[in-house]
Amino acid sequence: MEKEIDEKRQGTSLVLQEKEGNTKKLFIESYGCAMNFSDSEIVASILTEQGYNTTQKLEEADLVLVNTCSIRDKAEQTVRKRLEKYNAVKRSINPGMKVGVLGCMAERLKSQFLEEEKIVDMVVGPDAYKDLPNLLKEVEEGRDAINVILSKDETYGDISPVRLQSNGINAFVSITRGCDNMCTFCVVPFTRGRERSREPQSIIEEIQDLWNRGFKEVCLLGQNVDSYLWYGGGLKKDFDKASEIQKATAVDFSQLLEMCAVQFPKMRFRFSTSNPQDMHEEVLHVIAKYHNVCNYIHLPVQSGSTRILKEMNRQHTREEYMELVDKIKRIIPGCSISQDIITGFPTETEEDHQDTLSLMEYVEYDFGYMFAYSERPGTLAARKMEDDVPEADKMRRLQEIVDLQQKLSAQRTARFLNQTVEVLIEKESKKSDAHWSGRNSENVVTVFPKENYKPGDFVLVKVTDCTTATLIGEAVGYSEMQVN
Ligand code: 5AD
Ligand code: SF4
Repeated sequence: MEKEIDEKRQGTSLVLQEKEGNTKKLFIESYGCAMNFSDSEIVASILTEQGYNTTQKLEEADLVLVNTCSIRDKAEQTVRKRLEKYNAVKRSINPGMKVGVLGCMAERLKSQFLEEEKIVDMVVGPDAYKDLPNLLKEVEEGRDAINVILSKDETYGDISPVRLQSNGINAFVSITRGCDNMCTFCVVPFTRGRERSREPQSIIEEIQDLWNRGFKEVCLLGQNVDSYLWYGGGLKKDFDKASEIQKATAVDFSQLLEMCAVQFPKMRFRFSTSNPQDMHEEVLHVIAKYHNVCNYIHLPVQSGSTRILKEMNRQHTREEYMELVDKIKRIIPGCSISQDIITGFPTETEEDHQDTLSLMEYVEYDFGYMFAYSERPGTLAARKMEDDVPEADKMRRLQEIVDLQQKLSAQRTARFLNQTVEVLIEKESKKSDAHWSGRNSENVVTVFPKENYKPGDFVLVKVTDCTTATLIGEAVGYSEMQVN
């Protein structure tokens, strides 16, 4: 499953791809997970070749694209509201504007979108972006256009994404697409299709290009990165049918991560998202072995109750998850672990909820992303189970979980007091233009006085103070990762 992107970036229109001679203007905005933001960069790259430069002004756009998320009902409602806004702009200022819907909602609703939302001219699912030139031609000729075909091998490995709205330091690189896990609450298998992996060489080339352009940190991205498996192409589930040679030369996630760490020793690596049942011990050893692989694992658990985990079709019990956490802590001392949790899944009792709270205490999560259950049409839970936890209970349980996470986060930040951490400077601190802001290996935001350092520098910072989410300190010099 996919981690969602920082809320503040949700819906921001992407800047600024300029190619000389391009005359048409594209406004593209993204909602949902990092994969969607990454896909929008692929889309912008494709459209640059079709004569489009990006704009941040809706009013002057020839084409408006919205990359959508279906994960919860609220995510879909947000997009519906944006469509109302486009409608208003089209009516009052920009009558020639065309509107396309991309991503998970496009895949889920298909042609229903064209019927329900008159403003929409084009519906394009997550595996169909290479067809955009043809679809746009249809739209320009006045017809509605749709392509929502899911693919068994599309990974966009051959497209070099334009880095929209980038700070020039951190970048996402997609390595797998789709998900085979079929959690009963989740719409992703329906919207993103089956798991397939991208050729390692094209991943390495993309990272090389980022390195050449001065990027310092890459997050390897997939709905389920730990099940990365390259054996020459095709779906993960068809691996059994691969030839003996393909099997013998296959590359799994720990091998890919190690390749990245070795080939780019001064580039920092993160990855997201891990599924407990697919995370193998080898990956933990790679994290422990290489300084440039961050000590941070996003490990969604969803519930602390084995009974609920079973109803969710998660492939692990509470105890198995705890064993994995023990292993992480043993192999990578001090590793940060974050969670996703859903409260109020059908049939969840107070006892199940208490199990979730006690598991959180056991793991001592550093961060968390917590949600109330939202029934998604078409999922197994929607078809087979009644959404029977009263809204008030869901919200109270959610609040209890959020409060506990805050307490745990505060404890976990405090452990860095008086320690020296390695920080990659990303930007100016939001609160003070005299301070830089970056993250340490464990993914904790750290701020410190600027002195003569600059964004992109790796700096050792002595931590002198902290809040629940942020470390505050002073730079004591460059780290071993610094390239001069
Ligand atoms: N309702 C609430 N939260 C959900 N998630 C996924 N599907 C749902 C749903 N139907 C959460 C999970 C997942 C994260 C990306 O979103 O916690 O890990
Ligand atoms: Fe990402 Fe789609 Fe999942 Fe939303 S529903 S989090 S966009 S994969």
